Amino acid sequence: MTIGKIIDGKAFAATLRDTVGEGVAGFVEATGRKPGLAVVLVGEDPASSVYVRSKGKMTVAAGMESFEFKRPDSIGAEDLLDLIEELNHDERIDGILVQLPLPGHIDEAVVIGAIDPAKDVDGFHVVNSGKLATGQEALVPCTPLGCIMLLKDELGDLSGLEAVVVGRSNIVGKPMAALLLAESCTVTIAHSRTRDLASVVHRADIVVAAVGRAEMVKGEWIKPGATVIDVGINRVTDTEDGKARIVGDVATAEALAHVRAITPVPGGVGPMTIAVLLRNTLVAAHARAG
Ligand code: GUN
Repeated sequence: MTIGKIIDGKAFAATLRDTVGEGVAGFVEATGRKPGLAVVLVGEDPASSVYVRSKGKMTVAAGMESFEFKRPDSIGAEDLLDLIEELNHDERIDGILVQLPLPGHIDEAVVIGAIDPAKDVDGFHVVNSGKLATGQEALVPCTPLGCIMLLKDELGDLSGLEAVVVGRSNIVGKPMAALLLAESCTVTIAHSRTRDLASVVHRADIVVAAVGRAEMVKGEWIKPGATVIDVGINRVTDTEDGKARIVGDVATAEALAHVRAITPVPGGVGPMTIAVLLRNTLVAAHARAG
Protein backbone atom coordinates (compact mmCIF):
# COMPACT_ATOMS: atom_id res chain seq x y z
CA MET A 1 0.00 0.00 0.00
CA THR A 2 1.36 3.42 -0.87
CA ILE A 3 0.98 6.26 1.57
CA GLY A 4 0.24 9.81 0.45
CA LYS A 5 2.36 12.83 1.07
CA ILE A 6 1.79 15.07 4.09
CA ILE A 7 1.80 18.71 2.98
CA ASP A 8 3.93 20.80 5.33
CA GLY A 9 1.85 23.95 5.72
CA LYS A 10 3.93 25.07 8.66
CA ALA A 11 7.11 25.21 6.57
CA PHE A 12 5.31 26.82 3.59
CA ALA A 13 3.85 29.48 5.91
CA ALA A 14 7.27 30.21 7.44
CA THR A 15 8.74 30.75 3.96
CA LEU A 16 5.80 32.99 3.00
CA ARG A 17 6.27 35.07 6.18
CA ASP A 18 9.96 35.49 5.31
CA THR A 19 9.06 36.63 1.79
CA VAL A 20 6.52 39.10 3.20
CA GLY A 21 9.17 40.34 5.64
CA GLU A 22 11.50 41.10 2.72
CA GLY A 23 8.66 42.92 0.95
CA VAL A 24 7.97 44.92 4.11
CA ALA A 25 11.62 45.99 4.30
CA GLY A 26 11.35 47.25 0.71
CA PHE A 27 8.12 49.10 1.53
CA VAL A 28 9.72 50.81 4.54
CA GLU A 29 12.69 51.86 2.44
CA ALA A 30 10.45 53.26 -0.29
CA THR A 31 7.89 55.04 1.90
CA GLY A 32 9.63 55.70 5.21
CA ARG A 33 6.84 54.03 7.17
CA LYS A 34 5.84 50.54 8.29
CA PRO A 35 2.63 48.86 7.06
CA GLY A 36 0.13 48.78 9.94
CA LEU A 37 -2.41 46.10 10.87
CA ALA A 38 -5.23 46.77 13.34
CA VAL A 39 -6.94 43.82 15.00
CA VAL A 40 -10.22 44.35 16.85
CA LEU A 41 -11.18 41.76 19.46
CA VAL A 42 -14.57 41.89 21.14
CA GLY A 43 -15.04 39.76 24.27
CA GLU A 44 -12.88 37.15 25.94
CA ASP A 45 -13.26 34.03 23.79
CA PRO A 46 -10.10 32.03 24.64
CA ALA A 47 -9.50 30.70 21.11
CA SER A 48 -9.91 34.17 19.60
CA SER A 49 -7.56 35.65 22.21
CA VAL A 50 -4.88 33.08 21.32
CA TYR A 51 -5.23 33.87 17.59
CA VAL A 52 -5.07 37.61 18.17
CA ARG A 53 -1.94 37.35 20.32
CA SER A 54 -0.29 35.18 17.68
CA LYS A 55 -1.29 37.62 14.91
CA GLY A 56 0.23 40.52 16.85
CA LYS A 57 3.54 38.70 17.36
CA MET A 58 3.86 37.64 13.72
CA THR A 59 2.91 41.11 12.47
CA VAL A 60 5.77 42.62 14.45
CA ALA A 61 8.15 39.80 13.42
CA ALA A 62 7.41 40.64 9.75
CA GLY A 63 8.45 44.24 10.41
CA MET A 64 4.96 45.74 10.49
CA GLU A 65 3.19 47.84 13.08
CA SER A 66 0.56 45.98 15.13
CA PHE A 67 -2.40 47.76 16.73
CA GLU A 68 -4.77 45.86 19.04
CA PHE A 69 -8.16 47.09 20.13
CA LYS A 70 -9.85 45.00 22.83
CA ARG A 71 -13.42 45.80 23.70
CA PRO A 72 -15.80 44.15 26.20
CA ASP A 73 -18.62 41.81 25.16
CA SER A 74 -21.03 44.48 26.27
CA ILE A 75 -19.90 47.01 23.64
CA GLY A 76 -22.78 48.51 21.64
CA ALA A 77 -22.83 48.27 17.86
CA GLU A 78 -22.57 52.07 17.52
CA ASP A 79 -19.36 52.20 19.57
CA LEU A 80 -17.83 49.41 17.51
CA LEU A 81 -18.79 51.19 14.27
CA ASP A 82 -17.25 54.43 15.62
CA LEU A 83 -13.99 52.57 16.29
CA ILE A 84 -13.95 51.17 12.75
CA GLU A 85 -14.60 54.63 11.32
CA GLU A 86 -11.62 55.93 13.30
CA LEU A 87 -9.40 53.12 11.96
CA ASN A 88 -10.64 53.74 8.40
CA HIS A 89 -9.23 57.28 8.65
CA ASP A 90 -6.02 56.43 10.53
CA GLU A 91 -3.16 56.89 8.06
CA ARG A 92 -0.89 54.50 9.98
CA ILE A 93 -3.30 51.62 9.43
CA ASP A 94 -3.38 49.67 6.15
CA GLY A 95 -5.35 46.63 7.30
CA ILE A 96 -8.32 46.21 9.65
CA LEU A 97 -9.35 42.80 10.94
CA VAL A 98 -12.36 42.36 13.21
CA GLN A 99 -12.01 38.96 14.86
CA LEU A 100 -15.12 36.80 14.36
CA PRO A 101 -17.42 35.64 15.80
CA LEU A 102 -18.87 38.79 17.35
CA PRO A 103 -21.35 38.68 20.26
CA GLY A 104 -24.91 37.84 19.21
CA HIS A 105 -26.29 41.37 19.67
CA ILE A 106 -23.96 42.74 16.99
CA ASP A 107 -24.74 42.24 13.29
CA GLU A 108 -21.50 40.95 11.74
CA ALA A 109 -22.52 41.96 8.21
CA VAL A 110 -23.03 45.58 9.29
CA VAL A 111 -19.63 45.69 11.02
CA ILE A 112 -17.79 44.12 8.07
CA GLY A 113 -19.65 46.47 5.73
CA ALA A 114 -18.31 49.46 7.69
CA ILE A 115 -14.66 48.57 7.01
CA ASP A 116 -13.01 50.53 4.19
CA PRO A 117 -12.75 47.86 1.43
CA ALA A 118 -9.18 49.05 0.73
CA LYS A 119 -8.26 48.08 4.33
CA ASP A 120 -10.35 44.86 4.41
CA VAL A 121 -7.43 42.42 4.72
CA ASP A 122 -9.87 39.59 5.56
CA GLY A 123 -11.55 40.08 2.17
CA PHE A 124 -14.99 39.77 3.80
CA HIS A 125 -16.50 43.08 2.59
CA VAL A 126 -19.08 42.61 -0.19
CA VAL A 127 -17.00 44.87 -2.44
CA ASN A 128 -14.11 42.41 -2.17
CA SER A 129 -16.26 39.25 -2.39
CA GLY A 130 -18.04 40.79 -5.40
CA LYS A 131 -14.73 41.57 -7.09
CA LEU A 132 -13.52 38.03 -6.41
CA ALA A 133 -16.74 36.59 -7.83
CA THR A 134 -16.41 38.69 -11.00
CA GLY A 135 -12.71 38.08 -11.56
CA GLN A 136 -11.46 41.55 -10.53
CA GLU A 137 -8.44 42.22 -8.39
CA ALA A 138 -9.50 42.05 -4.74
CA LEU A 139 -8.34 41.47 -1.21
CA VAL A 140 -9.03 37.73 -0.88
CA PRO A 141 -9.95 35.82 2.33
CA CYS A 142 -6.78 34.49 3.96
CA THR A 143 -7.63 30.84 4.61
CA PRO A 144 -8.89 30.00 1.08
CA LEU A 145 -6.00 31.89 -0.52
CA GLY A 146 -3.61 29.88 1.65
CA CYS A 147 -5.31 26.67 0.46
CA ILE A 148 -4.86 27.69 -3.19
CA MET A 149 -1.16 28.40 -2.59
CA LEU A 150 -0.68 24.91 -1.10
CA LEU A 151 -2.61 23.29 -3.98
CA LYS A 152 -0.62 25.09 -6.68
CA ASP A 153 2.61 24.23 -4.93
CA GLU A 154 1.62 20.56 -4.89
CA LEU A 155 -0.16 20.22 -8.25
CA GLY A 156 1.03 23.11 -10.41
CA ASP A 157 -1.68 24.04 -12.93
CA LEU A 158 -5.15 23.28 -11.51
CA SER A 159 -6.96 23.84 -14.81
CA GLY A 160 -9.63 21.25 -15.64
CA LEU A 161 -9.41 19.44 -12.32
CA GLU A 162 -12.58 18.36 -10.52
CA ALA A 163 -12.76 20.19 -7.16
CA VAL A 164 -15.26 19.54 -4.38
CA VAL A 165 -15.52 22.05 -1.52
CA VAL A 166 -17.35 20.67 1.50
CA GLY A 167 -18.78 23.65 3.38
CA ARG A 168 -20.44 26.88 2.25
CA SER A 169 -19.34 29.50 4.78
CA ASN A 170 -18.62 33.08 3.73
CA ILE A 171 -15.17 32.82 5.35
CA VAL A 172 -13.96 29.65 3.61
CA GLY A 173 -16.37 27.62 1.43
CA LYS A 174 -17.73 30.31 -0.91
CA PRO A 175 -14.46 32.20 -1.52
CA MET A 176 -12.65 28.86 -1.89
CA ALA A 177 -15.05 27.86 -4.66
CA ALA A 178 -14.57 31.24 -6.38
CA LEU A 179 -10.77 30.87 -6.27
CA LEU A 180 -10.88 27.31 -7.63
CA LEU A 181 -13.17 28.49 -10.42
CA ALA A 182 -10.69 31.27 -11.21
CA GLU A 183 -8.07 28.51 -11.56
CA SER A 184 -10.38 26.84 -14.13
CA CYS A 185 -11.36 23.89 -11.93
CA THR A 186 -14.78 22.27 -12.28
CA VAL A 187 -16.20 23.21 -8.89
CA THR A 188 -18.89 21.65 -6.72
CA ILE A 189 -19.90 23.09 -3.35
CA ALA A 190 -21.25 20.38 -1.06
CA HIS A 191 -22.69 21.03 2.41
CA SER A 192 -24.67 19.54 5.28
CA ARG A 193 -27.77 19.00 3.10
CA THR A 194 -25.91 17.41 0.18
CA ARG A 195 -27.30 13.99 -0.72
CA ASP A 196 -24.81 11.13 -0.94
CA LEU A 197 -21.82 13.22 0.05
CA ALA A 198 -19.56 10.17 -0.26
CA SER A 199 -20.12 9.85 -4.00
CA VAL A 200 -19.83 13.62 -4.56
CA VAL A 201 -16.47 13.65 -2.75
CA HIS A 202 -15.39 10.56 -4.69
CA ARG A 203 -15.53 12.53 -7.98
CA ALA A 204 -12.93 15.00 -6.82
CA ASP A 205 -9.29 15.41 -7.80
CA ILE A 206 -9.19 18.15 -5.14
CA VAL A 207 -11.18 17.95 -1.90
CA VAL A 208 -11.35 20.99 0.39
CA ALA A 209 -13.04 20.11 3.68
CA ALA A 210 -14.35 23.10 5.63
CA VAL A 211 -17.46 21.95 7.47
CA GLY A 212 -16.31 22.11 11.08
CA ARG A 213 -17.22 18.50 11.90
CA ALA A 214 -14.55 16.22 13.31
CA GLU A 215 -13.35 13.59 10.82
CA MET A 216 -16.58 13.70 8.85
CA VAL A 217 -14.94 13.02 5.48
CA LYS A 218 -13.98 9.35 5.48
CA GLY A 219 -10.88 7.88 3.88
CA GLU A 220 -12.78 5.54 1.56
CA TRP A 221 -14.68 8.53 0.08
CA ILE A 222 -11.45 9.85 -1.43
CA LYS A 223 -10.66 9.02 -5.05
CA PRO A 224 -7.24 7.35 -5.33
CA GLY A 225 -4.63 9.99 -6.08
CA ALA A 226 -6.74 12.99 -5.01
CA THR A 227 -5.26 15.91 -3.08
CA VAL A 228 -7.03 16.81 0.16
CA ILE A 229 -6.97 20.17 1.95
CA ASP A 230 -8.36 19.92 5.48
CA VAL A 231 -9.44 23.29 6.86
CA GLY A 232 -11.14 21.86 9.98
CA ILE A 233 -9.92 22.56 13.49
CA ASN A 234 -12.08 20.52 15.88
CA ARG A 235 -11.41 19.87 19.54
CA VAL A 236 -12.43 16.35 20.61
CA THR A 237 -12.14 14.54 23.93
CA ASP A 238 -12.48 10.85 23.14
CA THR A 239 -9.38 9.34 24.68
CA GLU A 240 -9.37 7.40 27.96
CA ASP A 241 -7.30 10.02 29.75
CA GLY A 242 -9.92 12.64 28.84
CA LYS A 243 -7.35 14.91 27.20
CA ALA A 244 -8.52 17.05 24.30
CA ARG A 245 -6.98 16.60 20.87
CA ILE A 246 -7.34 18.66 17.72
CA VAL A 247 -8.56 16.90 14.58
CA GLY A 248 -9.59 18.08 11.14
CA ASP A 249 -12.74 17.52 9.09
CA VAL A 250 -11.09 14.54 7.37
CA ALA A 251 -10.27 11.13 8.87
CA THR A 252 -6.59 11.66 8.05
CA ALA A 253 -5.17 8.26 9.01
CA GLU A 254 -7.70 6.47 6.75
CA ALA A 255 -7.32 9.02 3.96
CA LEU A 256 -3.54 8.63 3.78
CA ALA A 257 -3.93 5.30 2.01
CA HIS A 258 -5.93 6.94 -0.79
CA VAL A 259 -4.53 10.42 -1.32
CA ARG A 260 -1.72 11.78 -3.42
CA ALA A 261 -1.23 14.45 -0.74
CA ILE A 262 -3.07 15.78 2.31
CA THR A 263 -2.68 18.64 4.78
CA PRO A 264 -2.36 17.52 8.41
CA VAL A 265 -4.20 19.03 11.37
CA PRO A 266 -2.50 20.75 13.06
CA GLY A 267 0.35 22.02 10.86
CA GLY A 268 -1.42 22.21 7.51
CA VAL A 269 -3.79 25.05 6.60
CA GLY A 270 -3.79 26.66 10.08
CA PRO A 271 -0.36 28.33 9.89
CA MET A 272 -1.15 29.62 6.37
CA THR A 273 -3.97 31.91 7.52
CA ILE A 274 -1.80 34.38 9.45
CA ALA A 275 0.96 34.26 6.82
CA VAL A 276 -1.56 35.23 4.12
CA LEU A 277 -3.00 37.92 6.41
CA LEU A 278 0.47 39.50 6.56
CA ARG A 279 0.72 39.21 2.79
CA ASN A 280 -2.69 40.88 2.36
CA THR A 281 -1.64 43.70 4.69
CA LEU A 282 1.46 44.36 2.57
CA VAL A 283 -0.67 44.27 -0.60
CA ALA A 284 -3.12 46.77 0.96
CA ALA A 285 -0.25 49.00 2.09
CA HIS A 286 1.18 49.10 -1.45
CA ALA A 287 -2.23 49.87 -2.94
CA ARG A 288 -2.77 52.71 -0.46
CA ALA A 289 0.73 54.09 -1.02
CA GLY A 290 -0.14 54.20 -4.73
N1 GUN B 1 -12.48 33.84 12.90
C1 GUN B 1 -12.11 32.64 12.40
N2 GUN B 1 -11.40 32.80 11.26
C2 GUN B 1 -11.33 34.12 11.04
C3 GUN B 1 -10.70 34.90 10.03
O1 GUN B 1 -10.09 34.42 9.07
N3 GUN B 1 -10.85 36.24 10.17
C4 GUN B 1 -11.54 36.81 11.18
N4 GUN B 1 -11.63 38.14 11.22
N5 GUN B 1 -12.12 36.12 12.14
C5 GUN B 1 -12.01 34.78 12.06
